[in-house]
Amino acid sequence: MVLLGGSANPELAQNVAKLLDTKIYFPTTKFADNEIYVKVPVNMTNKVIFIIQPTCKPVNDNLMELLLMSDAAKRGGAREIIAVMPYYGYCRQDRKDEPRVPISSALVASTLKSAGVTRIITLDIHSEQQQGFFNGPWDNLYASYALVPELKNEILKDTVMVSPDKGGVPRAKAYARLLDTNDIAVVFKERDTKTKNQSKAMFLVGEVKGKIAIIVDDMIDTAGTMANAAELLKKEGAEKIIIAATHGLFSGKALDNISNPAIDKVYCTDTIPLSEEVLKTKKVKIVSIADLLAEAIEKTFKGESLGKDLIL
Ligand code: R5P
Repeated sequence: MVLLGGSANPELAQNVAKLLDTKIYFPTTKFADNEIYVKVPVNMTNKVIFIIQPTCKPVNDNLMELLLMSDAAKRGGAREIIAVMPYYGYCRQDRKDEPRVPISSALVASTLKSAGVTRIITLDIHSEQQQGFFNGPWDNLYASYALVPELKNEILKDTVMVSPDKGGVPRAKAYARLLDTNDIAVVFKERDTKTKNQSKAMFLVGEVKGKIAIIVDDMIDTAGTMANAAELLKKEGAEKIIIAATHGLFSGKALDNISNPAIDKVYCTDTIPLSEEVLKTKKVKIVSIADLLAEAIEKTFKGESLGKDLIL
């Protein structure tokens, strides 16, 4: 096994390597004009290469690093090249839902393939049908592995799992099952098609009055979705509102939105490196998914199934 890491989230990559007790190489630097230079310092002939690189901000650079590392591995004679992408950037344009739009997620998958990637491991991809965009194995893991034990400590009375939009209902149902509650509510959200990150919580289906409401989503970007949903839940009588999201992008006015008094606590994982400001925010609690990734890498390397413990 050879472990490679890009510059997207070196801390997470290092933590995974430590858990695997394996050396990790960070083979990317930059030319003076900002072009990426890659040179892997170890032999890769006939080896299984794991490249740990979430394609988060700056998404284009991080994606390009991943492609170049994979190309280096392919040309170095690697037997298998596994892209471990805790966050898969360009996941939100995943279908042609209006004329003259790309399917960005499919383009990324086919580009990975042409750069030599033979297998993909992701965590909570935006929509599971995206796995069909890659002609090869694509395992999607779930952050519930790390988040559910934390959320269990929050459940002191009636709890309702809330999806902040209709697309997230299967996720809310899975969390409800894992947290032994059958209670689900759904916020119907409307997004402005021109300003992509602005949404409105329109109405709620389900009962939240007097309950602890846990809103689950794949990501917090500007946190507008969460702030709007939390306000609506508060208006409908929820007693406490907790947020659990896998990927903390925290862009734009995210911290302002998180400071909304309707939100009591926010859990998210370390798939994306978080700024000092986010780390200092008392409401935000970060849960690491390093051990989940390490276990997935080890099982993949040994040819074992991920299904039993890691995939719900
Ligand atoms: C959308 O479908 C996603 O699942 C998230 O709900 C969305 O991307 C969050 O964006 P924001 O935090 O900017 O509202």
